Amino acid sequence: MNVTAILGAQWGDEGKGKIIDYFVHHQEHQQEMVIRGQGGSNAGHTLIRDDGKKIVLRLLPTGIVSTKALNIIGHGVVLDPVSFLKEVREIREHGFEVSSKNLLLSERVHLTFPWHRLYDQQNNFVGTTGNGIGPTYSAKALRENIRLGDFIHSPTIAFEKMERLKKNFLATYKGNFEQAQFEEMYLKYKESILTLINDYSDLIQEVHPIIQSYLKSNKNILLEGAQGTLLDLDMGTYPFVTSSTTTLAGLCIGSGIAPNQINKSIGVFKAYVTRVGDGPFPTEDLGEYGKMLQEKGKEFGSVTGRPRRCGHLDLVLLKHACELNGFNELVMTKFDILSHFSQMKICDRYNEASSLFALNRLTPHYKTFNNPSENLNEIITFIEDFLQTKISLLSCGPKRDDLVKISRKREELKKSAH
Ligand code: GDP
Ligand code: IMO
Ligand code: MG
Repeated sequence: MNVTAILGAQWGDEGKGKIIDYFVHHQEHQQEMVIRGQGGSNAGHTLIRDDGKKIVLRLLPTGIVSTKALNIIGHGVVLDPVSFLKEVREIREHGFEVSSKNLLLSERVHLTFPWHRLYDQQNNFVGTTGNGIGPTYSAKALRENIRLGDFIHSPTIAFEKMERLKKNFLATYKGNFEQAQFEEMYLKYKESILTLINDYSDLIQEVHPIIQSYLKSNKNILLEGAQGTLLDLDMGTYPFVTSSTTTLAGLCIGSGIAPNQINKSIGVFKAYVTRVGDGPFPTEDLGEYGKMLQEKGKEFGSVTGRPRRCGHLDLVLLKHACELNGFNELVMTKFDILSHFSQMKICDRYNEASSLFALNRLTPHYKTFNNPSENLNEIITFIEDFLQTKISLLSCGPKRDDLVKISRKREELKKSAH
């Protein structure tokens, strides 16, 4: 067994795409299978190609840019055929192959329908990405949705059900939107479903036995997390969260790989914190420092371009993420951005003795480090001792190899009081 999971430890956009790309390409780690297990096209994972061009992957696993990996869109993912086909077109334009040789879709993925997208966009108090993610997962839990495999195995029933669901939606919500526009969306959607089942049927499979065969032959499998731990439906900042399980447990469910078959869980975190959308964010910096983080760190959404809220590294929340994901190692990204600052502030506790449940009422206490670039060792030691987890890689630029391996021999992590 050789299964590694790479997950976001904050509110998403930690730089997972870049780190996964490194793991996919690096000799020592070279991955033979890459599986996305949850979420949908709400993700935006950025990679920089060798020629410097940027690629943003939304639903396709990052291994799509490797010639060696078989990529799987796992059971727990939700898929919008229109947006999937668009992404496939775009990645082909970048010169990458997409065929059943390197991409398979689980028959079990649930489909996002136009009404999910519309509902999401019109009932958006959370600041969602508007991709219909929440409504799709809701319909799945209500047991009223349609899976990709239903269109392959019993297309007549699936198309009839789709018409019925559309009618139900119109009966309840018509008047809330432009009906002609909706009909146009629906038509395009139906065409995309037909394209999927006609032209891509060889990609749509019961992928479970294939994943199991890779496991049995000890191949390197990488589980690609999307979103971040603090956006987890159960353990994140509910209701300002996404609608899937974004922790390691979610990747087990979404890939069908049992927890005791995961060899390593790696958490990716930024040297500061960002968040898109609404919700509590105790270390948010609304002053000059936060503005400068946004500007120097180019903190704008990879897909939507929305400005990301910025603030200071929060070790209390990062410890929560370490516990929930059992991180064996950590990767700290964007440390290069702190070279523009004369100070780095790290939250090491909150001033109130309260649980994380009422995060919006907690105020952070900070430890300040001067000249972060010059005091990297001290900062890393402080973070590792606090989290009782080692930082194995430091990312200091957007390109795949802008990475420093941290191989300092430390006897033991000093037990902190936290
Ligand atoms: P993901 O969703 O976790 O994959 O992260 P995103 O791709 O949404 O956002 C991370 C952004 O930071 C992207 O623009 C990356 O190219 C960039 N990035 C990743 N690591 C680093 C780093 O160490 N330094 C800098 N300057 N940029 C980075
Ligand atoms: P990656 O994989 C950052 C946020 C949205 C919103 C909340 C719910 O690139 O790290 P949703 O559309 O999922 O119902 O929105 O979750 N969100 C993300 N924020 N990175 C992401 O993905 C995100 N995916 C969802 O901004 O606050
Ligand atoms: Mg992102």
